Amino acid sequence: MTVFSGGVGSVDLLPVAATIPSSWLHEVFRAADARERATGHPITRLHVGEPYFGPPEGVAAALAHAVLRGHAGYGPVEGLVALREALVAKLATANGIDSAVSRVFATPGSCQGLLALLLALAEPGAELLLPEMHWPVHLQQALLAGYRPVFYPLGPDHRPDPAVVLAAGTPRTRVLVLNSPANPTGAVLGADDLRILVNGARSRGWQVVSDEAYEDYVYTGEHISPAALERDVPVEERVVHSVFSFSKSLAMTGYRLGYVATATERAARVLGVVQEANIIGPATPVQHAGVAAVALRAEAAAGNRDRVRRNRDTALPALVDAGLLPALPDGGWYAVLDVTCTGLDAEVFTDRLLRHRDIAVVPGTGFALRPDLDAVGAVRSIAPAPWSRHLVRIAMCVAPEALAAGVHGLLEFVDECGRTR
Ligand SMILES: Cc1ncc(COP(=O)(O)O)c(C=O)c1O
Repeated sequence: MTVFSGGVGSVDLLPVAATIPSSWLHEVFRAADARERATGHPITRLHVGEPYFGPPEGVAAALAHAVLRGHAGYGPVEGLVALREALVAKLATANGIDSAVSRVFATPGSCQGLLALLLALAEPGAELLLPEMHWPVHLQQALLAGYRPVFYPLGPDHRPDPAVVLAAGTPRTRVLVLNSPANPTGAVLGADDLRILVNGARSRGWQVVSDEAYEDYVYTGEHISPAALERDVPVEERVVHSVFSFSKSLAMTGYRLGYVATATERAARVLGVVQEANIIGPATPVQHAGVAAVALRAEAAAGNRDRVRRNRDTALPALVDAGLLPALPDGGWYAVLDVTCTGLDAEVFTDRLLRHRDIAVVPGTGFALRPDLDAVGAVRSIAPAPWSRHLVRIAMCVAPEALAAGVHGLLEFVDECGRTR
């Protein structure tokens, strides 16, 4: 049996998931690993958001203790009450969000929480507003959940004009995705812009999905949680659903732990069904590690922010001086470089940088894909927005020496391309 033949060979009959491409992040991941295996050369890995620092001390012990003491059975769909209580307190003090245990879900990574939330909010054929440059997984998830993505433009500083975002909506708009601090651009949205966006979304009957994975990595200004701006709105009229991660703030990438705070009890009930059908519940020992991590959060997150800020301030000014980066990113773990001066398209640049210098970066085109969809939401074709052709993304959360070596090698390579053009 051919699973994806569609019987009559019609592309329209492919399952939607079979038409969604894998992201460039994973392509580069595979290429970097393959090159390291083939050549034995260590690769400078600037392609992936994997921090050089680890979880706070005590987290691994909490995980081990949970397993050794047999705290490893099934738990509630929504997550352990002790963890959700700790998260409600964190949301109140760190984010200004007045959530409740009944509206907080522990999830296996924020990635799964985001998809589950999008599924819980989905309406057939609804439109979802995404920034024109976005984390590729947001687009994959939107398509998997059956949305038709519409892209809102960003200004030269990668921040959207709220009026333009609201104007991009149509009567079919259901969800507005916000991601501040942003991957890949590092843009941080201020309170005034967020207030216009949140109030505008509510008055239009849209839901807001706020991905705050990088909440603790703001170097200029402060992190504002959009849901905090709805504190005075009755709970059942709220529209901001917030998604957070242990991966970035606490460097717990492989633990796979995140959490969602839904805007309303109604949304929480639906999300409960989606999660039951998806995961039954998050891994119990990991949640015990999560309880320990939340207690250590404030100090650990501040230290981690200083580490990445130091990296940014030490290594990235050379990229600004070389004209590849307009300004240091205000937040997040990444910077988007413009390599137009090399005359190379981003994919070619990335490929050659890996082969000639053993440095892995990601083409920016993968953060700006524009799918053409058929009537059922399957991807007929997909191509990058033309303006992304010469952009590449680097990660600045890697070890300082690796970042310095990677930036140095990249600048030498750019110089070489310029001279041989
Ligand atoms: C913007 C954004 N959101 C969410 C995630 C997912 O993080 P996790 O699933 O590890 O919590 C990432 C990971 O890179 C990300 O960049």
